[in-house]
Amino acid sequence: MNASSDLRTMRIPLKHGAGQMPALGFGTLISDLSLTITATRDALEAGFRHLDCAERYANEREVGTALQTGLAAGGISREDIFITTKLWNTNHRPERVEPAFEASLERLGLKYLDLYLIHTPFAFRPGDDQDPRDQNGNVLYDSGVTLLDTWTAMESLVDHGKCGAIGLSDIGLNELKPLYESARIKPAVVQVESHPYLPETELLGFCKQKGIVFLAFAPLGHGMRPGLLEDPVVSAVAARVGKTPAQVLLAWAVQRGTGVLTTPRSAARARENFDISALPEDAVDEISRIQIRERLNPVVTTGVPGFIPKVRGA
Ligand SMILES: NC(=O)c1ccc[n+]([C@@H]2O[C@H](COP(=O)([O-])OP(=O)(O)OC[C@H]3O[C@@H](n4cnc5c(N)ncnc54)[C@H](OP(=O)(O)O)[C@@H]3O)[C@@H](O)[C@H]2O)c1
Repeated sequence: MNASSDLRTMRIPLKHGAGQMPALGFGTLISDLSLTITATRDALEAGFRHLDCAERYANEREVGTALQTGLAAGGISREDIFITTKLWNTNHRPERVEPAFEASLERLGLKYLDLYLIHTPFAFRPGDDQDPRDQNGNVLYDSGVTLLDTWTAMESLVDHGKCGAIGLSDIGLNELKPLYESARIKPAVVQVESHPYLPETELLGFCKQKGIVFLAFAPLGHGMRPGLLEDPVVSAVAARVGKTPAQVLLAWAVQRGTGVLTTPRSAARARENFDISALPEDAVDEISRIQIRERLNPVVTTGVPGFIPKVRGA
């Protein structure tokens, strides 16, 4: 990438799928339903053309409403927008994959998806309860289905022309490697937590080598304070380049060759988070040399989401 590239509109071609994913994406993990509508609308107005959704976020219908409003307002067509949603853990059984996909499409008001991800590699007991537990509060996993079984059903969705690409989320290298080897259609995208405190260098290296797009969530450390937004190195770079810490963190992610998802909840923050520009290479390196290591979301080890509100009726 050269320093004059416009990070705001940069698109990453999918090697193992159709289309190009805008590097800068808007995440819809917002618990309040009316806020989901306004934040999604504000993100589209600010210029975001990549929406990350999930069945588990229980707000696909509201994202769809905002999307239809954005499209109707003119100037944007469906083809301009890259839309992802995710298969939840309770739908890993192959016969549940297509119905779950169709239900998401219906809620979003779409005819096709650009990307469908397996939300986590953990299969939960199949059924309508998205958080099945035993009487002691332990998660009920489903040992009757493998990740490859689920992946094969995902491949059929691509075969039938229903989505342009498929991928995985919250997966580690040890699970990704065998799946990658066995897959007929290779994962186009892997979505994981990543930021300067969790650079996931080895996973990123594997993805780059295999032509898989690495998509980072929680780039601002989920807005937790104290945290990345107050990190002294990030703040010093921000002061030097005349940008905010959030803009610096998002630019860093794109400049290291990843896609990135952020969740601004107001129009002003949507404009701020979209208005990123390339950092000087020495600033990128300085941030990459931060030694603090911290994972914020335990979902990768359990399949239980760390940031998700209690689910409401979808
Ligand atoms: N695959 C998975 O398991 C998984 C897990 C988590 C997230 N995700 C996806 O990734 C997306 C992004 O994750 P995330 O929500 O953790 O992202 P994030 O952008 O790191 O964190 C969002 C938080 O940062 C704050 N924020 C946003 N812009 C800011 C700014 N300019 N200055 C200061 N604070 C700012 C917001 O605070 P306010 O609330 O004050 O606005 C919000 O609470 C999610 O929406 C979802 O789509 C996926």
